[in-house]
Amino acid sequence: MRLLVTGGAGFIGSHFVDLRLKQHARDLVVVLDKLTYAGNPANLAGARRNPRFKFIKGDICEARTVERIIRKYRLEVIVNFAAETHVDRSILSPEDFARTDVLGTQTLLEAVRRHRMKRFLQISTDEVYGSIERGAFRETDDLKPSSPYSASKAGGDLQVLAYRHTYGLPVLIARSSNNFGPRQYPEKLIPLFVTNALENKLLPLYGDGLNTRDWIYVEDNCRGLDSILEQGIPGEIYNLGAGNTHTNWEITSTILKLLIKPESLVKHVIDRLGHDRRYALNTRKIRELGWQPAWPFVKALKHTVEWYQDHPEWWQSLKSGEYMQYYRRQYQKRHRVK
Ligand code: NAD
Ligand code: TYD
Repeated sequence: MRLLVTGGAGFIGSHFVDLRLKQHARDLVVVLDKLTYAGNPANLAGARRNPRFKFIKGDICEARTVERIIRKYRLEVIVNFAAETHVDRSILSPEDFARTDVLGTQTLLEAVRRHRMKRFLQISTDEVYGSIERGAFRETDDLKPSSPYSASKAGGDLQVLAYRHTYGLPVLIARSSNNFGPRQYPEKLIPLFVTNALENKLLPLYGDGLNTRDWIYVEDNCRGLDSILEQGIPGEIYNLGAGNTHTNWEITSTILKLLIKPESLVKHVIDRLGHDRRYALNTRKIRELGWQPAWPFVKALKHTVEWYQDHPEWWQSLKSGEYMQYYRRQYQKRHRVK
């Protein structure tokens, strides 16, 4: 395949690029990434050594840039990871979320339509369904997003479905649960808590710490995305989760045990506004494509913790960078944590 991977310099996108280059010997993989605070060229260090890989810095909202790249490399498929992704940032300043996650998606769909591309895979999230007290969401459930982030992602999904309905485009939607693994920006729960614990800093646990997420190791997620891209039926939505539902407290205490750090590092802080209580996915549909997770949860978490221990050069500069400092000041004010 000749693929355009947008947002490929981020966490999940860079793992997906590595997987495609390794497992599909004939692929050409072109990454288009704006390199926002979350995009990191170091995430693509392995891919850069491959002659079948190209990197272009640019914005998915710019139609001319997108079309020029598609024409130049005769691209057939788009996998759209590019997004603003952090819920807390969306609560502080939502504008970029609507721009990239809705308008950016629509710009890409328009390019797919104009260039009669073969496939468009939208990387979406379980957060578009909102919170669920018991049971698990199915692909047919209504969208009830509750944060500016999840509302923007839902807006992107609706654009994708509208382009299917109106123009018959060969689109697919993957709705993944919470990912974790190496190279995740240290503002999300697991990398923030692992790196704070390594520095003997406090771990700011929101509310009562009993909010629940359905966790999936990033490599399992990327293999699932690959199955959807290769075998998914156009027009269909696929939930993608590993069924590891844990409270934030359980995640926090497992991290502390793995690092042999005391529970006194945990600080209960004021809750996130509109904090979704629980996410869980029914994944029968993707399992029918033959996919299943390969990584047991604790083994994957241990591997992830070890990666952050072994790569301080990757995260220390991000945590002390100017952009992160600005965000942390806002965040500290909001959560009343030092
Ligand atoms: P990330 O924040 O690590 O990376 C996002 C990437 O998109 C960055 O490289 C950034 O530079 C790029 N980007 C942002 N705006 C852009 C624009 N306008 N044009 C081009 N590039 C732009 O995100 P991630 O965690 O790797 O998530 C990737 C995708 O997966 C997102 O669409 C996200 O909604 C979805 N998702 C993530 C999770 C998760 O747990 N991380 C779970 C479910 C779904
Ligand atoms: P996060 O990693 O931001 O992912 P999402 O909000 O997309 O699920 O947060 C995961 C959970 O951890 C969520 O319930 C909020 C909680 N959390 C904390 O308790 N403290 C923190 O500092 C962060 C970033 C998250």
